[in-house]
Amino acid sequence: MAVISVNKLQKYYKVHQKEPGLAGSIRSLFHRKYYDVKAVDGVSFEINEGELVGFIGPNGAGKTTTLKVLSGLLYPTAGEVSVLGYTPWDRKPAFQKQFSLVMGQKNQLWWDLPAIESFILNKEIYEVSDAQYKTTLDELVELLDVSDVLKVQVRKLSLGQRMKMELIAALIHSPKILFLDEPTIGLDVVMQKKMRDFIKQYNKKFNATIILTSHYMDDVKELCQRVIVIDKGHVLFDGALDEIIKKFANHKLLTVVFSKEVTEKELKKIGTVKEFDYPRAVISVKRATASTAAAELLENFPVEDINIEEPKIEDIIREVFTGKDLA
Ligand SMILES: Nc1ncnc2c1ncn2[C@@H]1O[C@H](COP(=O)(O)OP(=O)(O)OP(=O)(O)O)[C@@H](O)[C@H]1O
Ligand SMILES: [Mg+2]
Repeated sequence: MAVISVNKLQKYYKVHQKEPGLAGSIRSLFHRKYYDVKAVDGVSFEINEGELVGFIGPNGAGKTTTLKVLSGLLYPTAGEVSVLGYTPWDRKPAFQKQFSLVMGQKNQLWWDLPAIESFILNKEIYEVSDAQYKTTLDELVELLDVSDVLKVQVRKLSLGQRMKMELIAALIHSPKILFLDEPTIGLDVVMQKKMRDFIKQYNKKFNATIILTSHYMDDVKELCQRVIVIDKGHVLFDGALDEIIKKFANHKLLTVVFSKEVTEKELKKIGTVKEFDYPRAVISVKRATASTAAAELLENFPVEDINIEEPKIEDIIREVFTGKDLA
């Protein structure tokens, strides 16, 4: 069953265009010119209960804007959105109690107080019962292993510790839906892994529906079976992560080990030489010609071993985003 459905969502920001120079500034005061930034331009998707979906795209793609609309922080320009049957920007209290938005780049905790104070505040705001609060808090503190820093002023916590506290604050009311906007940004690899483990467990344990944005492909690869790829406000792809390879990869990689010296110049006749460190070379060739290229290598070169591989998902996605053919 779809718990989130987004239909032809548009969000245009009106931006004031300043004319250059002082005279221009003064003119702008009286004759304001505006133009539209089409942050989200016709996005549609549906997400079922319990899904953990990766929402990825380059900087400025429209990810945060979409999540803000889904959270009711922004009104859309056009389109329909339903989250748990609610229209987010109506901001009904019953809706507010069932989701949470966590932004890795934003601090929602009281900076000068220990995190526990923010948790208590959220407990009151969301009208969580004492018993429920205690159970939830104990569970989260245990899962995230932060019992020793609950009473430390937030400003004194490390970034990783603070992010864990941000998560707890966002989860005190046991939301069914979670929007995680770059929750692992800036964390070291160990802490990123811990966050991932937590997100995975939270999803499983509570059958929570989660939309996750991240620029780290490890997050996406480890957590999300389904990804929605967005660029310039448009959905480029929606489906299984592996399918991205089929859809966008237009080349394959031939890894060859030679038994005798060959020159890079000769190899260039086969394809793009990506790595060459005798006796090993990696050559990128057009997908459709991979087997002919391999046959050509075997026939004309002293080949000891050869492998045909798919390019890495990171590379394909970068290729899609930059619009450049990296082959
Ligand atoms: N308040 C705003 N006013 C005007 N333009 C905005 C505003 N917020 C975002 N934008 C623009 O809307 C577009 C989408 O921004 P958004 O923050 O949604 O991207 P994003 O996918 O989250 O990018 P990132 O990966 O960098 O976080 C960008 O071009 C951005 O400059
Ligand atoms: Mg963003």
